[in-house]
Amino acid sequence: MCGIIGITKNKPDKIGHEIFDALTRLEYRGYDSVGMALISSDGISVLKDKGNINDVGHRLNFKEIMGSTAIGHSRWATHGPPNQINAHPHSSNNGKVVVIHNGIIENFMEIKSQLIRDGFTFISQTDTEVIPHYLSKLLDEGKTMYDAIVSLTQLIKGTYALVIASTTEPNRIYALKKDNPLVIGITDNEMYCASDIPAFLPFTRDVVILRDNELAILEPGKFQIKLIPSGKEIKRKPHEISWTAEAAQKGGFPHFMLKEIHSQPEVMKTQLKTQDDVFSKFVQHINQSNKVVLVAAGTAHYASLVAYHTIPEFSGKIVVPCIASEWETVSHIIDSNSVVIAVSQSGETLDTIKAIKDAKKKGAKILSVVNVTGSTLTTISDEVIYIHSGPEIGVAATKTFTSTALAIWRIAKELAISNGKLSEDELEEFTQAIERMPEAVKYMVAHSEAKSRDLAKWFATKKSAFYLGRGAGHIIALEGALKMKEISYVHAEAYPGGESKHGPIALVEDDYPVVFAIPNDNTRVKMMGSVQEMSARGAITIGVIEEGDEEMKEVLSHYFEVPRGFSRFCSTIPYSIPMQLMAYYTSCAKDYDPDKPRNLAKSVTVE
Ligand code: AGP
Repeated sequence: MCGIIGITKNKPDKIGHEIFDALTRLEYRGYDSVGMALISSDGISVLKDKGNINDVGHRLNFKEIMGSTAIGHSRWATHGPPNQINAHPHSSNNGKVVVIHNGIIENFMEIKSQLIRDGFTFISQTDTEVIPHYLSKLLDEGKTMYDAIVSLTQLIKGTYALVIASTTEPNRIYALKKDNPLVIGITDNEMYCASDIPAFLPFTRDVVILRDNELAILEPGKFQIKLIPSGKEIKRKPHEISWTAEAAQKGGFPHFMLKEIHSQPEVMKTQLKTQDDVFSKFVQHINQSNKVVLVAAGTAHYASLVAYHTIPEFSGKIVVPCIASEWETVSHIIDSNSVVIAVSQSGETLDTIKAIKDAKKKGAKILSVVNVTGSTLTTISDEVIYIHSGPEIGVAATKTFTSTALAIWRIAKELAISNGKLSEDELEEFTQAIERMPEAVKYMVAHSEAKSRDLAKWFATKKSAFYLGRGAGHIIALEGALKMKEISYVHAEAYPGGESKHGPIALVEDDYPVVFAIPNDNTRVKMMGSVQEMSARGAITIGVIEEGDEEMKEVLSHYFEVPRGFSRFCSTIPYSIPMQLMAYYTSCAKDYDPDKPRNLAKSVTVE
């Protein structure tokens, strides 16, 4: 969602250019309008408008702006439509305080009413605008900015990453975090704050991640962190980021999504460097629990279903999968003997965080599988497994899906070992499937791309499609359909193979696309029946099948072959690759931008 950047420097520089570039690097978060403010003792100048960063930045000449302190924002509208007035930054009536915000101030209406009674004029429909007015009111009453911010935190309810600047301290930026991400970048002469590290990565690798209720006070070359409201000073050492700014760029591919699909073999290799004992920690908690509840959203939810398909078999525990926004339904069954596994690429999905906070209050053990280091979810979990995928810029999750799935398969393997649930041969097959994953994914990308591009030309003419699978195949179908619908706007629906007869099949007619995930596991024979049912009604059937499955090849219209050895274990990973590529190329065939699908944000930080 909204992107934030704040920069303060020890001397005037091309700061508008840096704000423009930083906002461009945050584009993946999703936004509808853009703005920046330059702060000096003479005043604050705000430039903002609806539109993308390239258009707005060029139209308003961001790159020409010289100065030493500036803040920039890309807005994803929540309160008030996307337009020039509602775009951030927002200033106080006296022009002395300026604010950018990611999150929602839930009680803004009552604060606004009081401020209107106090004589303040509101220009926008946003919840954010109460903040500059309230702070300027307290500054006029003689409070320091620090004290005013403490009072603000006692007044506002909701979620926020807030960046505040004022003409009275023109070289200072205040950065405050609760529930939404904020990171600080450090150099000898500058200080940065942002929603995410790529924003300032070309300038520094030294990073401090803020936690909830922390206020960072930034000045060129120095920073201080205070816990709010106590004022207790927090000493936190910067850590060095190992990935490069280049890693966050396209690296020669036309889109981030394609680059990320191709990077999966390397991502798998990195993931395999994580030692087995990291997964064993999860296993101990699962074995001691009375039940396991999974919580996640979107692709992360589908990846979490790998645990739903494996933990019962390898531990005998009851596993309840829950979509994060539906948490209230399962909240009642959580107690101090429950284990809750949260899965999130960003670690910032608000529904997932809220669910975890509730589970934590009830005494459950919180285990998380996350990509982004230091994200909010990691700070409130008992144990964390990092999937080490590097930054994922394309809004559609690809490498983080396969990498999360691999991490969960590895938990499953350790669980099976700990509970003696597999024979030696089965264990060897499982180990081989995990170890051969980088090579298998590389093979799948290389052997699926041309066929996916061809099929995409036909898929691009279709309005809807079915994706079918059973067991682990159903997870692949769910994720394949989500990819297709979110970036190419084809109405793709996934069903368990057996369920298709209970309604969906009524839609099937000549030339209707049905995509199948058919590993050579105990679902294969029944899936063969599903293919035939669909073909009999004129469907064009596309299957991802095991290499050499001649019977399947005969009944399918088109097929992709996955190397042997990934049917019983880890099928969710190699079988997903053609699904990712078909979605990507269908989006391209329709002339859409697969990296920035309409209406979607990379990280959903509102409920
Ligand atoms: C999938 O392509 C989407 N980007 C979306 O479903 C995503 O997986 C979901 O919003 C969860 O995000 P998270 O992994 O950051 O929690």
